[in-house]
Amino acid sequence: MKKLLLTTTLLLATAICSQAQRQEITLTDDWQFSRDKETWETVSVPHDWAISGPFDKKWDLQTVAIVQNGETQATEKSGRSGALPWIGEGYYTRKIAIPSNFDGRAELVFDGAMSEPVVMVNGQQAGFWAYGYNTFRVDITKFVKPGENELEVSLKNMEESSRWYPGAGLYRPVTLVLTPKAHIDDWSLFVRTIEVDQRKDVATVAVDVMVENAEPGMRMILSLQDAEGNSRVMRSVVSFGNGFVTKNLVLQHPQLWSPETPNLYTLTVRLMKDGKDIDVKTVKTGIRTVRVSKEHGFQLNGQTRKLKGVCLHHDLGPLGAAVNKAALIRQVKILKEMGCDAIRTAHNMPSQMQMDVCDSLGMMVMAESFDMWVYPKCKNGYARFFNEWADRDITNLVKAHRNHPSIVMWSIGNEIPEQGNEEGRLIATRLQGLCHSLDPTRPVTQGMDRAEQALRSGMAQTMDVAGFNYRVHKYQKNYEQLPQGFLLGSETASTVSSRGVYKFPVTPTDHGVHPDGQCSSYDVEWCSWSNLPDDDWVWQDGKDWVIGEFVWTGFDYLGEPTPYDEYWPSRSSYFGICDLAGLPKDRYWLYRSHWRKDEHTIHLLPHWTWGKGRIGEVTPVYCYTDYDEAELFVNGKSQGRIKKQTNLSPLTSQPLPQDGSRLDRYRLRWNEVVYEPGELKVVVYDEMGQKCGEKVVLTAGKPAKLKTEVWTQTSSLKADGEDLAFVTVSLVDKKGTLIPDAADQLSFQVEGAGTFRAVCNGDATSLEPFTQPAMKLFSGQLVVIVQAGKQPGNIALTITDRARNMKQKITIPVK
Ligand code: GAL
Repeated sequence: MKKLLLTTTLLLATAICSQAQRQEITLTDDWQFSRDKETWETVSVPHDWAISGPFDKKWDLQTVAIVQNGETQATEKSGRSGALPWIGEGYYTRKIAIPSNFDGRAELVFDGAMSEPVVMVNGQQAGFWAYGYNTFRVDITKFVKPGENELEVSLKNMEESSRWYPGAGLYRPVTLVLTPKAHIDDWSLFVRTIEVDQRKDVATVAVDVMVENAEPGMRMILSLQDAEGNSRVMRSVVSFGNGFVTKNLVLQHPQLWSPETPNLYTLTVRLMKDGKDIDVKTVKTGIRTVRVSKEHGFQLNGQTRKLKGVCLHHDLGPLGAAVNKAALIRQVKILKEMGCDAIRTAHNMPSQMQMDVCDSLGMMVMAESFDMWVYPKCKNGYARFFNEWADRDITNLVKAHRNHPSIVMWSIGNEIPEQGNEEGRLIATRLQGLCHSLDPTRPVTQGMDRAEQALRSGMAQTMDVAGFNYRVHKYQKNYEQLPQGFLLGSETASTVSSRGVYKFPVTPTDHGVHPDGQCSSYDVEWCSWSNLPDDDWVWQDGKDWVIGEFVWTGFDYLGEPTPYDEYWPSRSSYFGICDLAGLPKDRYWLYRSHWRKDEHTIHLLPHWTWGKGRIGEVTPVYCYTDYDEAELFVNGKSQGRIKKQTNLSPLTSQPLPQDGSRLDRYRLRWNEVVYEPGELKVVVYDEMGQKCGEKVVLTAGKPAKLKTEVWTQTSSLKADGEDLAFVTVSLVDKKGTLIPDAADQLSFQVEGAGTFRAVCNGDATSLEPFTQPAMKLFSGQLVVIVQAGKQPGNIALTITDRARNMKQKITIPVK
């Protein structure tokens, strides 16, 4: 079977290359994978070898003091990097086919390989890259022969090299690129908007491109097509003696790219000789301008806007680090629905796939690079490589990604320990200069957490955009010392919560820990260095010089289970606005109420299904809404009509006052409500005092059924072996009200045109493996992920709750 496949690939490649055309072949299937070179299994790439677990505190058990968190004594940190078996070595091998008459260039492009990948072709080392997060190219021309070739990639992950779960293996795509001898150098291609003249309705787009081995008599055609495939502007170039071409394309009636209008164009570069195509390269791009200035702050297409951003780690929860397009689309759609318009790829290079998704769905991006430079934050981190590799890493980041319209800013680092000294300032100047030289169109930033030090060393003043992490009460002072005239909240909040878990009494605190390893979903718990969303906003709203924020984080991620770094079991974060399964926590609606201007939000918390023990107990009720005024009713009895306190003065000191009154600016809170089962209802009013809407939360009755909601990109899955359906399962009563404390053990069976991929309930303390078809509900819910096969048909997913004798069967079409 394998032989047949190889022969088919070979024939295909032969046919294509004899026409002297480029071939870009994604190497997805037929990889052999081993941890010890003795037992091998067949896998597809992207692949994360550690995500199946088992979870165990012994993996990467770190006895450290987390200096960034203000710790001075080393203690045992069990789930810091996810408690998954990602440490050690891993090997991947695969055959690659080179056509018999091939005399061009053969290259492998890795979009990221975790980590320290050594690339061998036919037993000879062809390449190496140190940083697991970066994309890199390996020229394998001189190592290959016509016919079958052996590719081997060896990877190595060291303990104490990460502050979070990095994943393991070939977790991003690997592509074989075959081009003719004379060809377009992929990363030389740079498309950028020079100017948009809104009055004349004209855009000027510059294109740089390098032809390797250009021959006399060659010519090039540059053309820009719109989304419908119509050519909108074309330019022919006849002479490029040294191979380098730089030309402007002037486009009438440009459809600009923005988060609200993610219009894309395709640039086609056609290298020709004697009327025949020699090499053709296409790249998707968008037309838009980005500018930062003292007068106007951050501007996209000449319009000032504040970035409403979230930080994201690269893992996709139960899928691990293995990148997947459907999962990325789901993430971006969930974020956009909340009103978020920007992502910071904390603290490393993004995948091409993620940037493609951000381009096409409309999401701005701060593309980051490093979490440390010369001074290590963990013993075996990137500091081992920085001096030798940093410039190469920045170069690859910028060159590989600079055509993405979604990227509006580069970031050269996060909370770099040397931000307070001259060495740090010099490195910042160098790396920022390197970004500018490779891309003069985007500003450069970094996240600084020690504002005074960074201002003293001059590093903050050096940056195009001074990004500050937390300590919002210092913004005013920082701003006054910055010649730039504006600043960015490069990292904000770090509020902690667990979906559906409410703690009593409701106490705003920066050191809340509870015996069950969960955090309160009243959104009143944060860390000593961080704060609540409310405090971020009061420092941004009405201050034009704050150009936006990136909340830590949009989704929970594997590792860094603060405030339970020393608690076992706990292996994933609590910072997310959404949990690890992608289900929104209450905070989602707090951000939505503040960020979305086009739609209203009315959300009530907590749930209203408490046991007998809470009857008669004070059970505060919060409403997250964009309306300023509301009245709350418990079983028809008014609990008072209240207004947001917009005139409360901002915080000016640390530690933050424990008194929660400052939370009345952006939330409506009834703190003295006494619980009785029944109906909780809120009625909201606009500024004219008109009733505008209501929201009801009911006490749930007996568990009656398993409710399912299926998320897919389109109405059916694609039969491509990669597309995913995310099925949210909730235990509900007969009216459909969630049983909010249900923890039933469920199991899953998938038959037909797909397979079970993973399951996640968002519980950071759960040790149930993601890749086994069984899991408990957490706060009444979980998400099952089902993967399409390569043949069309139907997938049948059966969800069983054995203890309650319940079964739910759903069908997902695959086309
Ligand atoms: C920041 C850091 C992040 C994360 C966060 C948790 O200081 O940049 O990577 O650790 O704290 O609050």
